[in-house]
Amino acid sequence: MSIPTSNAFVFFGATGDLAYKKIFPALYAMFRRGHFDAPIIGVAGRPWTDDQLRQRAYESIAATGQIDETVFAKLRARLRYISGDYHSSDVYTQIRAALAGAQRPIFYLAIPPTLFAPVIEGIGKSGDCSAARIIVEKPFGRDLASAQELNTILHSVFAEESIFRIDHYLGKEPTQNLLYFRFANSFLEPILNQNFVDSVQITMAEKFGVGDRGKFYEEAGAIRDVIQNHLLQLVALLAMEAPVSDGKDFEAIRDEKARILKSINALDAQSVVRGQYVGYLQDPGVAANSTVETFAAIKFMVDTWRWAGVPFYIRAGKNLPVTVTEITVFLKNPPQDVFGHNGSIRKNYIRFRITPDTIISIGANAKAAGEEMRGETVDLIATHCDPDEEEPYERLLGDAIRGDPSLFVREDSVEQAWRIVDPILNQDLPVFPYTPGSWGPTEADTLAAQTGGWRNPSDNA
Ligand code: BG6
Repeated sequence: MSIPTSNAFVFFGATGDLAYKKIFPALYAMFRRGHFDAPIIGVAGRPWTDDQLRQRAYESIAATGQIDETVFAKLRARLRYISGDYHSSDVYTQIRAALAGAQRPIFYLAIPPTLFAPVIEGIGKSGDCSAARIIVEKPFGRDLASAQELNTILHSVFAEESIFRIDHYLGKEPTQNLLYFRFANSFLEPILNQNFVDSVQITMAEKFGVGDRGKFYEEAGAIRDVIQNHLLQLVALLAMEAPVSDGKDFEAIRDEKARILKSINALDAQSVVRGQYVGYLQDPGVAANSTVETFAAIKFMVDTWRWAGVPFYIRAGKNLPVTVTEITVFLKNPPQDVFGHNGSIRKNYIRFRITPDTIISIGANAKAAGEEMRGETVDLIATHCDPDEEEPYERLLGDAIRGDPSLFVREDSVEQAWRIVDPILNQDLPVFPYTPGSWGPTEADTLAAQTGGWRNPSDNA
């Protein structure tokens, strides 16, 4: 069955930050590659003209690099602007008029979550949505109850297969490679289970603080901002079983991801350490007595045959020493200590670097040159870099327009991920201070101590 492509792109929040930083460059890239050329309607509250939006688009694209004027002229000719109040039916009437009968529009909500409900309702009331699609930005709710409520609102207008919940980590090339590497090779499968794996770690380190996003961050914190979504999605891809299909069934991968998330226990106070960098309270938009976490470390188990007894650790923080996201799967030590080294040699590992570049490596021990049977550690690295690679937003918007939901988060997965973190969100858990540029509060070290402590990723490969 062929799936029809959306024939118009309507995005709410057209004058906002996300549109400027991600949406215009993604649309331009799609026009450049000839992947899209349908009408584009930007919607927002400001009383702008079409030309003001086109100028904004030009500036946004120019800020990311060279502009090909011929390509931009095509995009410009397709771009128009509608200004209005999201709570009034008038704006939706104008949108329908501008769609000029296009029956398969895709609506993109690049707006604050508090506006999702009125906009979805407005779209629904303004005309037929049976062939329309909708893209929803994160954060998708702020806990399990609000995510379920948002799903109910979305389903009142759109069928699940028409809903595209964005998690831009899923659009990253290295994330795709994680899935590919796991299931396109046979050598990994025999060892990727509780017989050989000692523990799994994921670190998402960022070298910068919250900057001018203090107001947003006060509502989120590290657990809601990146653990519930980006990092649990990585866990799902790493830990899932092979999809039961030839890869053309969109739901097969999403079925396995949902299954693995279902098998993760809900977190409790003992399985989390929260931290806050010194200086956060002085950042703009932050409350003077804020207890919001800018760092969190969690430990959990994946209760399946494959992963029984293997601890998983996740850690994410702002103002850490580097900007790197890495998954490390540590293997158990060899069964016999042939060289009398087991206490001191490094555990073998398989490492997937997700940010800032694609690196897959195997950490091994080799003999150091010389008379002694002394070891040294080596990293067998595969790396990949394509300067014309699709950026996550280009890839994801393109997929949504073509109706391919594989890289979007399904209702059951988003709710399962909230179920896992829900118990630790509203508890008054301690928040430990840490120095900017450090690896977070020392209290987090205790969490991973049992399996040899955290592995700190470095800037270098
Ligand atoms: C966003 C978070 O979803 O992801 C940010 O809100 C975070 O806090 C960002 O910095 C990281 O994404 P990337 O693609 O820059 O690694």
